[in-house]
Amino acid sequence: MSADTEALAAWWRSFARYSLADYAPRYDAMVRAAAENSDVLELVAAAPPEAHVPNNLQAAAHYLLLSGVDHPLAAAYEPDFSGDPGPLFCDLVLSHSDAVADLLATRVVQTNEVNRTAVIAPAVNRIGGEAASSLALIDVGCSAGLNLIFDRYRITFGDISLGPADAALRLTAESRGADPVATPAEVAWRRGIDRNPIDVSDPAQAMWLEALLWPDQLGRLDRLRAAIGEFRSDPPELVKADALDGLAAALADAPPDALALIVTTWVVFYFDEDLRRDFEAMLLDADRPTAWLAMEMAGIVPGVDVPPTSESAGEVSAITLVTGGAGRSVERRFCGWTHPHGAWVDLAPCTERAVRRRESRRRRPG
Ligand SMILES: C[S@@+](CC[C@H](N)C(=O)[O-])C[C@H]1O[C@@H](n2cnc3c(N)ncnc32)[C@H](O)[C@@H]1O
Repeated sequence: MSADTEALAAWWRSFARYSLADYAPRYDAMVRAAAENSDVLELVAAAPPEAHVPNNLQAAAHYLLLSGVDHPLAAAYEPDFSGDPGPLFCDLVLSHSDAVADLLATRVVQTNEVNRTAVIAPAVNRIGGEAASSLALIDVGCSAGLNLIFDRYRITFGDISLGPADAALRLTAESRGADPVATPAEVAWRRGIDRNPIDVSDPAQAMWLEALLWPDQLGRLDRLRAAIGEFRSDPPELVKADALDGLAAALADAPPDALALIVTTWVVFYFDEDLRRDFEAMLLDADRPTAWLAMEMAGIVPGVDVPPTSESAGEVSAITLVTGGAGRSVERRFCGWTHPHGAWVDLAPCTERAVRRRESRRRRPG
């Protein structure tokens, strides 16, 4: 092995040990087998650096299977599989090395988790119920935009359900906090922004989104397909733009009498410190009322202190709300915790939680 492939192998072994193991045993076996196979490692090492994350190779193999390649690895994506997928994974990769190399060179890991609407739907309904106006929803880092249509999904929390009873996509989540608000918010306008929006009307792009799901995540595949079908039936507007440019345009284009509600779910995590500050400053300095609902790793949203939690960092996301704009005083609030994929939500009414930090800002000219 070269120095490059040694380093890659060490990274993949450690990723499997700390991130997968019991959590995703089939994906774990694939990553471990690849980490011991010098031919596979050489193929990955020759790809662009952003393709070196293990899920790119998993997705390339899964994509080939979804495209109709006949290989015994397909069994590992069936519910009742009980063997070792590792050797099959390496075999498929090496027997289709040109196609795999092409996918590694042209595709990036970019998911869109629709179960996060179990956070978005009750939070947006709560904010809409408290707002004096309708909402203009701006999903920054929307990926394929599947969470923009949160109110076309049926989301059930025990006895309480949100969304249409006849929805094509039915999601469930556990509510550990205040009862979810089922009364729909009035969303007057909506737009998704992403530097690389996925166009699910293109079958190849939709299939890559499916391929990114691991063999241990077959439940996620069904709901992703249902969400794609619903999205295609009446797609909302998606704009290709970087976060700042896209936000500036959306704030200018949204109906002036609506509260601009910016939503980010696992996006600000990818911004550097400067971009996090500029993003927040743009929405707080806007000449219209704005609210920023974030579901991100704790500590990612600037200025919001979150309380300690007994959940381990990889098992929890913080829900925060920052409001301002139009010269209003700025409020930064911790609103609760959630599983990173929305499997459970502990959403308290933000107004009943301690306001962690409050500051007055005067509207800046221009
Ligand atoms: C982990 S995905 C989350 C997608 C979606 N919000 C969800 O929860 O499923 C992160 C998304 O943020 C987008 N993104 C990251 N940095 C961005 C930036 N500076 N401007 C616009 N989009 C960005 C990526 O392209 C990607 O689609």
